[in-house]
Amino acid sequence: MSVAPADIESSTWRPGSAEHRRLLAQFFLDTHIEYVPEKIRWPALSAAELARLTALPFWQEAVSTENVTSNTVAAAAAIEPDPAVRAAIALQGFEEQRHARLLTALTAHYGIPIEPPPPFTPRALESDFLFAGFGECFDSFFAFGLFALARGSGYFPAGLVRVFEPVMEEEVRHILFFVNWLAARRARLPWWQRPAFRARCAWIILKQVASRVKTARALGKGPQAGAAKTAENFTLTAHQELGAGVTLHRLLRTCLEENDRRMSAYDERLLRPRLVPGIARVLYRLLPAGI
Ligand SMILES: [Fe+2]
Ligand SMILES: [Fe+2]
Repeated sequence: MSVAPADIESSTWRPGSAEHRRLLAQFFLDTHIEYVPEKIRWPALSAAELARLTALPFWQEAVSTENVTSNTVAAAAAIEPDPAVRAAIALQGFEEQRHARLLTALTAHYGIPIEPPPPFTPRALESDFLFAGFGECFDSFFAFGLFALARGSGYFPAGLVRVFEPVMEEEVRHILFFVNWLAARRARLPWWQRPAFRARCAWIILKQVASRVKTARALGKGPQAGAAKTAENFTLTAHQELGAGVTLHRLLRTCLEENDRRMSAYDERLLRPRLVPGIARVLYRLLPAGI
């Protein structure tokens, strides 16, 4: 079931309104897709493809990140007063948990060793949800571009690309949901609480940016800096592994194009992520094409 444009009066349409929350929950619940990671038929890989897959540096961290995110998101449903939006957050928690299951199934099938991540219990429900949401806004934006480059270059076998396409689409929905939830949450606070909320968000964004700058600097000092084997590093350096001609400039352009393409599939009344595409657009204009 979807909401017809006529159902939503533009005069009542504003972030946090009942109409906005209804559309937010409905878009998320309606676009959920069914798949069971444990029933996936994994494609057969050649020895070279398997070696390349096994050598990727991020499996352990990816499983750990999905474990933390899924527990954080699932717990955050408790802070949402709107029942439909709460159901959407709970569903997002399920989807993140399914990402962890998918990675576990993949690594088990191809014999990639990983340790089961320790149980994670979020403490500050809202702050942890904000931290996870802003983190996804950064990581997913770059994942869209990397995924497109990997698909185009044949870096990953086509069978694996097909398995991970739904994961990419889920991440589009997650960040789209997050920026709209954030706007609705802020709008529903009493006016005197909004500055503190904005300051808390700004602080969390700064922490996410600082962590990526730290990683980039560690990479600049070489692998001995001890930060070479992480998923975040992979996001920052993977474009170099995808073949000649894949510069940072081209990666940024691909990320921007893929972000626009994927976001265009969803209801145009929903707010779009602006911060990370905005930063990427500035960098794209400033960076020389050869870098
Ligand atoms: Fe995920
Ligand atoms: Fe996600």
